Amino acid sequence: MSTAISPTAYNYKVVRQFAIMTVVWGILGMGLGVFIASQLVWPQLNLDLPWTSFGRLRPLHTNLVIFAFGGCALFATSYYVVQRTCQTRLISDSLAAFTFWGWQAVIVGALITLPLGYTTTKEYAELEWPIAILLAIVWVTYGVVFFGTIVKRKTKHIYVGNWFYGAFIVVTAMLHIVNHMSLPVSLFKSYSAYSGATDAMIQWWYGHNAVGFFLTTGFLGMMYYFVPKQAERPIYSYRLSIVHFWALITLYIWAGPHHLHYTALPDWAQSLGMAMSIILLAPSWGGMINGMMTLSGAWHKLRTDPILRFLVVSLAFYGMSTFEGPMMAIKTVNSLSHYTDWTVGHVHAGALGWVAMISIGALYHLIPKVYGREQMHSIGLINAHFWLATIGTVLYIASMWVNGITQGLMWRAINDDGTLTYSFVEALQASHPGFMVRALGGAFFASGMLLMAYNVFRTVRASKPAEAEAAAQIAVVGAH
Ligand code: HEM
Ligand code: HEM
Repeated sequence: MSTAISPTAYNYKVVRQFAIMTVVWGILGMGLGVFIASQLVWPQLNLDLPWTSFGRLRPLHTNLVIFAFGGCALFATSYYVVQRTCQTRLISDSLAAFTFWGWQAVIVGALITLPLGYTTTKEYAELEWPIAILLAIVWVTYGVVFFGTIVKRKTKHIYVGNWFYGAFIVVTAMLHIVNHMSLPVSLFKSYSAYSGATDAMIQWWYGHNAVGFFLTTGFLGMMYYFVPKQAERPIYSYRLSIVHFWALITLYIWAGPHHLHYTALPDWAQSLGMAMSIILLAPSWGGMINGMMTLSGAWHKLRTDPILRFLVVSLAFYGMSTFEGPMMAIKTVNSLSHYTDWTVGHVHAGALGWVAMISIGALYHLIPKVYGREQMHSIGLINAHFWLATIGTVLYIASMWVNGITQGLMWRAINDDGTLTYSFVEALQASHPGFMVRALGGAFFASGMLLMAYNVFRTVRASKPAEAEAAAQIAVVGAH
């Protein structure tokens, strides 16, 4: 068979590049997570240097795991899914290559500037204006490649997974550009265009929808393709997926104020955010059920297929975190949970249990396909990875629940004379065992990523990428 790559074959090169970088950034970002978790156990690990202090490495962790690991997983899978479901090659190879190199440049920019202390101070939007502008350009190009490919599709229908990816791309652009409006005063310092409570509201409109559209909607796009594929069953209800889509994107955008309960934000806005967050439970669970029920008649596959286990367990964690979130959005519950480790536990139920596990499952499905292999080098290693990831996530979440509720109760305890029962340091001491368990859980999760790296390395080493391209070409030609 000729290995020449015809222009009609899918562009798997960019998918391969993003897939490999997902693993690389995953190891780095999660490794750094374990390091900062250890700093909370042993503060000496701050090393008395500004660059290695918790305050500077924490935003580097969030940027690496969300934008580098999560972002590369979203690029890889969306480029793969859009080509296969539209049965056409990406609209432009050079623009796709630009998104790959541009995105890596943004991440390297974060790796350098955040430890140096350059930051806008807005959480999840810390990157200073030159990097933020590059990010915006890369993102708009991503939109052109993705939607351009949809426009030139060979199929009549636009598969629902692409709706979710599309909404994630459009809304992320909108959030990033609006929240980053600022006045640069030097090469690495800018001031927000907004002030006071307006600034806070814009920031958490951004922050919450970064969760809603970056960490949720994009990964739901992944779910709608990879769960049916791996289970070899059609999606449970196509109608539910459409209702799910419109309900989710209509509601998420209003829920930001739940991050600003009991602040200077007008009370009506806080109550609106709370109400919308509670309603958000319905579409979130609608999506979760749609994914889970896709396994009807295929549950037995869970016994032998660790990739499917990753995908299904990720949906279980998605269901759990989207139940917990609406509860935490209730003002009275939030008065206990806010500022405590409960929030951090909730974040990682979503981030490790949902985002990371669905990405890992999708990559184990996709990598052999784009490297011309039948399957990953070792199924046993995938299974070991699954257990490390699951146990690691449970240790992380459970320890943070205990810590969060302990902290919340200790902070609010008052004596008869109105003085505080516990000092802050006493609450910190009580949190120490939980910090140790969290670091251990994180180490479990991160070591699973090392197994993945080895498994991917062995799969790639024995790969025949040209054959994957050729097979894709046959698929495209066959679709004419
Ligand atoms: C080995 C895995 C991981 C470990 C050990 C870890 C550890 C940590 C630690 C120690 C913090 C700081 C908590 C604090 O300030 O008290 C943190 C924050 C955070 N991490 Fe991770 N992390 C891991 C993986 C991830 C992943 C995969 C994601 C996202 C996809 C993620 C997203 C976040 C976010 C968003 C925050 C900020 C939370 C907040 O502000 O409430 N983490 N992580
Ligand atoms: C229906 C869905 C959800 C709702 C209503 C919700 C609600 C909430 C609430 C009330 C908080 C605490 C805010 C505070 O006290 O400051 C929070 C924090 C957070 N949630 Fe969720 N959540 C949902 C799903 C998720 C999912 C699936 C993820 C991750 C993939 C996630 C990631 C986060 C992050 C990163 C934060 C911490 C933000 C920060 O303070 O830095 N959430 N969420």
